Parts: sequence; C-alpha cells; structure tokens
Amino acid sequence: MQDLNIAVLGAGVIGITTAVELQKQFRNAKINVIADKFGEDTTSAVAAGIFRPGTGFMGPSKDITQKWVNDSYYYWDDIRRSVEGPNAGVAEISGYLFSSEFKEIVKNHYLEKLLPIYRRTTEEELKLCKGDWKYGTFFTTVVTQNSYYLPWSTKKFLAAGGNILEKKVNYFSDVANDYNVVVNCTGLGAKALCSDNQLVPIRGQVIKVKAPWIKTFFYGNYDTYILPGLDSVTLGGTRQYESYDKSVNKYDGLSIKERCEEFVPSLRGAEVIAHKVGLRPHRTPVRVEKEVLNLNGNKVNIVHNYGHGGYGVTTAPGTSLYAVGLVKEMLMGNCKL
Ligand SMILES: Cc1cc2nc3c(=O)[nH]c(=O)nc-3n(C[C@H](O)[C@H](O)[C@H](O)COP(=O)(O)OP(=O)(O)OC[C@H]3O[C@@H](n4cnc5c(N)ncnc54)[C@H](O)[C@@H]3O)c2cc1C
Ligand SMILES: *[C@@H]1O[C@H](CO)[C@@H](O)[C@H](O)[C@H]1NC(C)=O
Ligand SMILES: *[C@@H]1O[C@H](CO)[C@@H](O)[C@H](O)[C@H]1NC(C)=O
Repeated sequence: MQDLNIAVLGAGVIGITTAVELQKQFRNAKINVIADKFGEDTTSAVAAGIFRPGTGFMGPSKDITQKWVNDSYYYWDDIRRSVEGPNAGVAEISGYLFSSEFKEIVKNHYLEKLLPIYRRTTEEELKLCKGDWKYGTFFTTVVTQNSYYLPWSTKKFLAAGGNILEKKVNYFSDVANDYNVVVNCTGLGAKALCSDNQLVPIRGQVIKVKAPWIKTFFYGNYDTYILPGLDSVTLGGTRQYESYDKSVNKYDGLSIKERCEEFVPSLRGAEVIAHKVGLRPHRTPVRVEKEVLNLNGNKVNIVHNYGHGGYGVTTAPGTSLYAVGLVKEMLMGNCKL
C-alpha cells in the first residue's frame, strides 16, 4: 500500500481537532494541516468557548446533531477531568441564562438531558443580577479557552508526527493532487474558496477583561453575556448578520461595556485586555459531508467540516469525529490507495 496522505485545510478549533482525531484513526498516515492563519489570528481565538449549542444549531438530522453535541460534551469533559485539563484550557463552569420576556429562550433541548446539573432558577436566583428577570436556567458546563487549547492540541499533533504548512489555498487544485483526502475546515474561508451562498458571517465583537472575581457566567437580554474563562472574562456582545467588518467598532465596545456593567456592576474597573472581533461562520445545516470533485478528469476526495456559526468550540469534537468517519468511508470506498 502506498503512503496515505491527508490534508486538513484550516487551523482553527475545527481543523486542529479534526487533525488530532485523524491521527488517532490513521496511525501511519501523513497528515498536513494547511492554513494561512493560526492561533490568535483565527475566529476561534475570539470565542469565549463555553459549551452551549444554540437551539437553532443544526446538522443533517436531529439525531445526528444530538450525537455531535453528546460526543462533544464527553470529549471536553474527559479532558477537563484529566491532568491535562488546565494545560488544554478546559474547565468546569456554572451560571445563569436569564430572560425578562421569553420563557422559550432559557430552555435548551440539547442540554437539558445531557448536563448533570441543569434546572430552572428559583425566584431568589432571578434577583441575583440587576434587571427585571422573569425566566432563567442554571447549568454547569465546560469552557474551553482557545488561547490554551489551540497551542496544546497543535503540540500534540506535531509530537505525533503531524506537519503544518503556512499557505493560503486559493484554488482547490493547488492541493488536490498530493492527497488521498482533503478535509475542508476553512470556516468562513470556504465562502471565498467556492460559491457556498448558504455560508454567511455573523459578526461578533467582545471585550476580554481581567476580572478573576467573576466565577459564574451570565447571559441576559440583547446578546449581553459575561463568560469567565481560565484567566480572562469575555464580555459580549453583538450578532450582526452578514457583516464582514473585522475591525473593532468603538460604539459596539461602548455598548457592550455599558450593558455588562449594568448587568453585573462589579465589572466596573476591570482591566481591559483586548477588544476583539470575529465572524462566526454560520450555515444551516452545518456542513459535514463528503464530496468527490472532478478536477479536469482527476477525482479528488473531500470531506467538508465547516459552518459551525457561534458554536464551533462547543461542537468541534463531535463534528470532527463524524468527519473522520466520513474520511474512513471514502478511503474504503475506492480511491487512490
Ligand atoms: C464573539 C464570538 C464569540 C464566540 N463564542 C463562542 C462560544 O462561547 N462557544 C462556542 O462554541 N463558539 C463560540 N464562537 C464561535 C466559534 O468561534 C466558531 O464557531 C469557531 O471558531 C469556528 O472555527 P473554525 O475552525 O471553523 O474557523 P476559524 O477559527 O475561522 O479557522 C479557519 C481556519 O481556516 C483557515 N483558512 C480559511 N480559508 C483558507 C484558505 N483559503 N487557505 C488556507 N487556509 C484558510 C484559516 O487560516 C484558519 O486557520 C464565538 C465566535 C465569536 C465571533
Ligand atoms: C445524548 O445523551 C443523553 C444523556 O445521556 C441521552 O439521553 C440521549 O439519548 C443521547 N442522545 C444521543 C443521540 O446520543
Ligand atoms: C471547500 O468547500 C467548498 C464548498 O463546497 C468547495 O467548493 C471548495 O472547493 C472547498 N475548498 C477546499 C480547498 O477544499
């Protein structure tokens, strides 16, 4: 058998997690991660990294989506329980989701059966934060801070023999001939690489602050949230549909600060580490699919894994495991082996 060569396009949380899982399944394969941006320069670095799939998050079917969510939770929680937890940036976190108007938005069908601690709030808890809160949910989940996780998993990938290439891939044919399978984890990059009109950005701006006294997460009205990570707290946010603006907007920053400080007044005076903007790669359904492309008579095996929107950290493990399964199917099916 010839050597098995696999390329993973993208080095965000989806690409790196997929690459590490491919290594576990194909021990003798040569695996290359190819990307033009790494670490702090990815969308993944903007995320707070809380495990909480939105109720609208959707894969190809309800069951597959719930399986992605379940697999992801156990994957993150296993890391959290291990000695590697703090190095990987994975920790346990509890907190509240409040609404002053809608009962429905505090209910999460993906989480209610999965998380060991998930319940309606008491009347007393509705008075914990400033605001006129009528409905609420309390739950315990995990948070993955990508400023730890991306370097940690990249190190693991390299130690197991993986390669990293820094390169922008403008055309699929640039890489196609060298690999048995190409896994497409380019996030929003997939929009430019092709004409996937279903993929759209949802712009998010946040402020990362130092506030080690905040130990609990809070979600309130109008995309206002306070999410503690390992050594910073993410204050948000905005959800601007089809906005491609990656620069920090002064007025968004002022609005986030005011909303968060009003919600949790002890945040006043917290030291600002950075203002950040990320474009969530949104697609319904999230695309985890195989495709055989025909490039001038050459058959190329692709597995797509992109379009996770605001929930890519949450669902990276489950979708990556699913993508690895598709890679296996493609390699068994035929191909250039
Ligand atoms: C403000 C904000 C808060 C968020 N909070 C959370 C949260 O709490 N929990 C959660 O689960 N999710 C959260 N998210 C969502 C999460 O950040 C994304 O879903 C996730 O980062 C998507 O990961 P990705 O690997 O697909 O994309 P990216 O991190 O964008 O990585 C894409 C990779 O592909 C590469 N690439 C793209 N095009 C090309 C090309 N042509 N050639 C070569 N390389 C290419 C890039 O260089 C990069 O390495 C948040 C997002 C934002 C913006
Ligand atoms: C997800 O996990 C929950 C809790 O263990 C379980 O009830 C449910 O059947 C699981 N669903 C899937 C699709 O794996
Ligand atoms: C990524 O996915 C898109 C959408 O199908 C496809 O058209 C494009 O060729 C893919 N790019 C790469 C480099 O795999």
